[in-house]
Amino acid sequence: MPSDGFRADLSQAFRARIPILYVESYEEHRALAEIAAVARDPELVRTPRALLTWSPTSGLIQPDGTARRGAIDPEDAIVAALRTEEPSVFVFCDLHATLGPAVVRLLRDVAAAFRAGPVPRTLVILAPALHIPHDLERDVSILDFPLPAETDIRALLDRMIDDNVATGRITVTLTSGDRERFAKAALGLTLHEAENAFARAMVDDQVLAPADLAVVHEEKRQAVRKSGLLEFVEPHAGLADVGGLENLKRWLVRRDGTWLDEAAAWGLPAPRGVLITGVPGCGKSLTAKAVSAGWGLPLLRLDMGRVFSGLVGSSEQNMRTAIRAAEATSPCVLWVDEIEKGLAASSGSGDNTGTGARVFGTFLTWLQEKTRPVFVIATANDIDRLPAELLRKGRFDEIFFVDLPTGPERTAIWTVHLSRRLSHPAVAGRLDLSPDLLFELTKLTAGYSGAEIEQGVVAALYDAFAERRPLQRDDLVRAVSNTVPLSVTQAERIAAIRAWASTRAVAATAPEDWDLGAGNGRAVEF
Ligand SMILES: Nc1ncnc2c1ncn2[C@@H]1O[C@H](COP(=O)(O)OP(=O)(O)OP(=O)(O)O)[C@@H](O)[C@H]1O
Ligand SMILES: [Mg+2]
Repeated sequence: MPSDGFRADLSQAFRARIPILYVESYEEHRALAEIAAVARDPELVRTPRALLTWSPTSGLIQPDGTARRGAIDPEDAIVAALRTEEPSVFVFCDLHATLGPAVVRLLRDVAAAFRAGPVPRTLVILAPALHIPHDLERDVSILDFPLPAETDIRALLDRMIDDNVATGRITVTLTSGDRERFAKAALGLTLHEAENAFARAMVDDQVLAPADLAVVHEEKRQAVRKSGLLEFVEPHAGLADVGGLENLKRWLVRRDGTWLDEAAAWGLPAPRGVLITGVPGCGKSLTAKAVSAGWGLPLLRLDMGRVFSGLVGSSEQNMRTAIRAAEATSPCVLWVDEIEKGLAASSGSGDNTGTGARVFGTFLTWLQEKTRPVFVIATANDIDRLPAELLRKGRFDEIFFVDLPTGPERTAIWTVHLSRRLSHPAVAGRLDLSPDLLFELTKLTAGYSGAEIEQGVVAALYDAFAERRPLQRDDLVRAVSNTVPLSVTQAERIAAIRAWASTRAVAATAPEDWDLGAGNGRAVEF
């Protein structure tokens, strides 16, 4: 249970006499309850401590519920804390908003006094946003407050149902299994958001039925979207829609189900994830999407550009928020598309505070140490920008290289894109997806990417549609002959990508699909 993790971390911090802790959470109420529980539990802390809370509106509130006189301003409240001689925990809510020079100075005094003093005292800053002035960084430890666990959400749901059924306000037709699904669907929400979601599901028709699950899903979608960093993506394609890349697909298929308890019993560590790099338009993003559909897991896309954009929150906080939301949604696939975009910002000029490197470090450390089943699929185009530490063994489980499709792979891609469209009789007419046609198209498109092949199919369809007639072989041939593939216009860049990958990454193409005879085949002859 995640809150057990928090309790363990907190009691360790208390016992280690860390003077100032920073707990970042929107859920002030729940976090306060957890902090109080730890502070008072003799099993968790050797000496139980009194809990005092401060907020800008109420001042310093003592354990008996009364306000300490003369301790409304943050400076006065901190001085009061410094003068307290009993074992105590001072929780300062929203202190981050008032961190002026005087407060920072006082906090440094607190750090020195609480670290050395004979009586255990801790100051906890509890705030919805992480904001630590540079001068205080060394004195403050950050503690993660996880989103509610499934058991917490399930307890909330059961209580809401009991309350509303008792008063006759609603009818409930959920089995215990349905309740579990509701609780799981609300993972990743704060308790307050989950309560809103369940309430909405109940009030629309005074019935709580399995179909109301959609309301919870929608609420979660909104909550995730509000963060502006993560986005739920609806995968429309499965692995069967990815032509070629058999080596990569096999690797992925073999990891299906590794997040289940069953796999842990085999002693398998949860897979960390995979980095897919390669030539543009050859199926990197497509594969990332297809995996989640194949595994039946939700797909979350992390926008690295936004993490660093400064449009929402500080980049450090953004990264932590995103990681936490992904963990709360686990098991899931976290797709970090174009990871180098974040890197560009992290090493870019104008950033001389080291924030970028730190944020990226947070991601890498998490990648290595995460225990929750979040399968990371990162894709990258601009490999020159990838730092060595990202590529070190143990970060990702594997690094795959997606090259321009080989002959057999192009046949597979043509098949994927044509068979879907030709299933419509008005489009297909007498055109048959024969081996001869596929062979011809495959030969014509040496050096074309999957995206270019797809564009060829679409362009041919436009021609046929303009004349309201079935698609013909000539439409396809004309469409691809009229395009100059990227492998020609950007030959140098692609050669550089290949040279880089040949020593560092595993080919996504399976050996049996390699082009034989013509060197690497592409751009030359099929
Ligand atoms: N191997 C493939 N099989 C089937 N379709 C493909 C394949 N590769 C590319 N496509 C088609 O091209 C489109 C674009 O591919 P995708 O977005 O996966 O490329 P990418 O490698 O992520 O490129 P970029 O580097 O530009 O992001 C896909 O949506 C798909 O329709
Ligand atoms: Mg892509």
